[in-house]
Amino acid sequence: MKNILITGGCGFIGSNFIHYMLNNYDYKIINLDALTYAGNLENLKSIEGNPNYKFIKGRIEDRKLVSNLIKEEGISFIVHFAAESHVDRSITDSIPFIKTNIVGTHVLLEAAKENNIEKFIHISTDEVYGSLGPTGVFTELTPIQPNSPYSASKASSDLLVRSYVETFKFPATIVRCTNNYGPYQFPEKYIPLTISNVLDNQPIPLYGDGLNVRDWIYTEDFCRAIDVVLHKGRIGEVYNAGGNSEETNINIAKIILKHLNKPKSLITYVKDRLGHDRRYAMDITKIKNELGWQLKYKFEEGIEKTIEWYRQNKGWWMKIKSGEYLNYYKKMYGQRLQEGMQVVKDKVQKTEDIRLNRESRKGAKS
Ligand code: NAD
Ligand code: TYD
Repeated sequence: MKNILITGGCGFIGSNFIHYMLNNYDYKIINLDALTYAGNLENLKSIEGNPNYKFIKGRIEDRKLVSNLIKEEGISFIVHFAAESHVDRSITDSIPFIKTNIVGTHVLLEAAKENNIEKFIHISTDEVYGSLGPTGVFTELTPIQPNSPYSASKASSDLLVRSYVETFKFPATIVRCTNNYGPYQFPEKYIPLTISNVLDNQPIPLYGDGLNVRDWIYTEDFCRAIDVVLHKGRIGEVYNAGGNSEETNINIAKIILKHLNKPKSLITYVKDRLGHDRRYAMDITKIKNELGWQLKYKFEEGIEKTIEWYRQNKGWWMKIKSGEYLNYYKKMYGQRLQEGMQVVKDKVQKTEDIRLNRESRKGAKS
């Protein structure tokens, strides 16, 4: 029996991980979460009464709270998910990213060091490595070259973790993962935004030329990766995790439309994201060979399960989409979608003009 502190457990991956751990181990889970816009108690409703689970509302930057919590709960392991996680939001306002991802991680490291915890797993991202061209993959030795305020803040937190290992022999391990998808993902991210928009017959806002590539991993597979790193990973190491499933954004839109039997006309090209990374891909040899981790889901299977989950849990995402999200959506997409639709209208008009022109020339000849 170990007591584990999970930070950010009310978010997408954190809540999946808590369900996974309670289903597989007899550990006591303490979930510290600030309940920002991305934190949702509904994700953990089914385990509220579980004696092995406790929720504490609070911020990771609150040193006193975090220190007391680690002491009083007798915490052995910390799995650190809490973060501001959306690239687009970091472009609009990066301050919360600096506060939570950098300052928050630093406070957590200090509190964990002071209380001599056994192991600290820092959840990080492939985005710290930057962007790839059409070929190549990120390995654990690829230099860190983040391009967005989000990835820069995550890279900073990775470097802080590394420095604590080197300087204080702090027992931390870093896991860097590619894009996750699955149940409970907040519908600001591409896959849940696309599925929920399509279910609502709303346009899919596709950035740029739609040909940016991400590697996608079904969350349950990532939860099992964190499990092996927590139990078998070496201190001071970095482990890359990924789904071996590279897809372009346009292809994902088409897969979702096909599955839900909706028209391709819902795809709307919109103005690109600033500094949009072109491609991410991971070499996952190390975690597989060293820790014996295996992927269970292929993208086709995972995406089908995910689409079904969003279809069957309409209430979950409708509640989110009807709240503060409406303002967010209007701000992020209102003008972009109008412009995108105008481009389509202009194209249709141009084709129609050409047709009419041809017909009138034909008429003049005869
Ligand atoms: P999320 O945005 O869904 O959830 C973040 C959670 O952290 C929320 O519950 C929020 O309330 C909480 N939180 C935010 N600021 C906090 C603070 N200051 N104190 C306490 N709690 C706070 O994020 P996610 O997609 O589940 O990502 C979890 C982690 O995994 C992040 O560190 C992210 O960088 C990393 N990651 C995510 C992906 C992905 O595809 N989603 C891929 C690789 C790595
Ligand atoms: P996202 O889910 O935001 O993850 P990340 O940028 O961290 O990889 O975006 C995934 C991809 O989808 C990325 O290339 C941007 C693109 N995208 C769109 O085309 N439209 C959208 O509305 C969103 C949110 C993302």
